Amino acid sequence: MLTDNYHTTSIKEYLNNLVDDIINLLSNKQNLTVEKQIDDFQLDPKTLFSIGLITNELLTNVMKYAFKNRDSGLIQITLKEHDGKATLTIQDDGNGLPDGFDIDKQEGFGLMLIKMLCEQLDGSFTIENHIGTRSTVKFSI
Ligand SMILES: Nc1ncnc2c1ncn2[C@@H]1O[C@H](COP(=O)(O)OP(=O)(O)OP(=O)(O)O)[C@@H](O)[C@H]1O
Ligand SMILES: [Mg+2]
Repeated sequence: MLTDNYHTTSIKEYLNNLVDDIINLLSNKQNLTVEKQIDDFQLDPKTLFSIGLITNELLTNVMKYAFKNRDSGLIQITLKEHDGKATLTIQDDGNGLPDGFDIDKQEGFGLMLIKMLCEQLDGSFTIENHIGTRSTVKFSI
């Protein structure tokens, strides 16, 4: 069964391909630099798909909002694993979050979906202004 916990998959190739696909589909800039540092470890399908959905929403937001009215941008995606815990960070050097941003008062579905998925994983999610915008997801593996 697709969602059983016995088949694990390597996150590195999955996430690398996902990130490249999203960037290639959504990028209309020539001066976009993408840096990836993704540890290689195994994840069960449920966690893998959740991390895929979260990455999709976060990167789509970066492409939609971070570099508006800019002609270049840097996106850094890191996934680190240590002692059974993993941290996914998506950092851009763009415009930052809008003034008065409140994560609990968003009308879009993206951040709401991310929060739900992080809760299901028993993980945590933060989004903050740091350089541009930095999002951090922590979860157990
Ligand atoms: N990387 C980012 N840089 C700047 N602003 C951001 C970034 N990520 C999110 N935001 C802000 O957070 C808001 C909420 O994001 P969210 O993904 O929940 O909704 P959305 O993208 O507007 O709609 P949807 O995800 O449903 O298409 C965005 O409208 C945007 O103002
Ligand atoms: Mg969104």
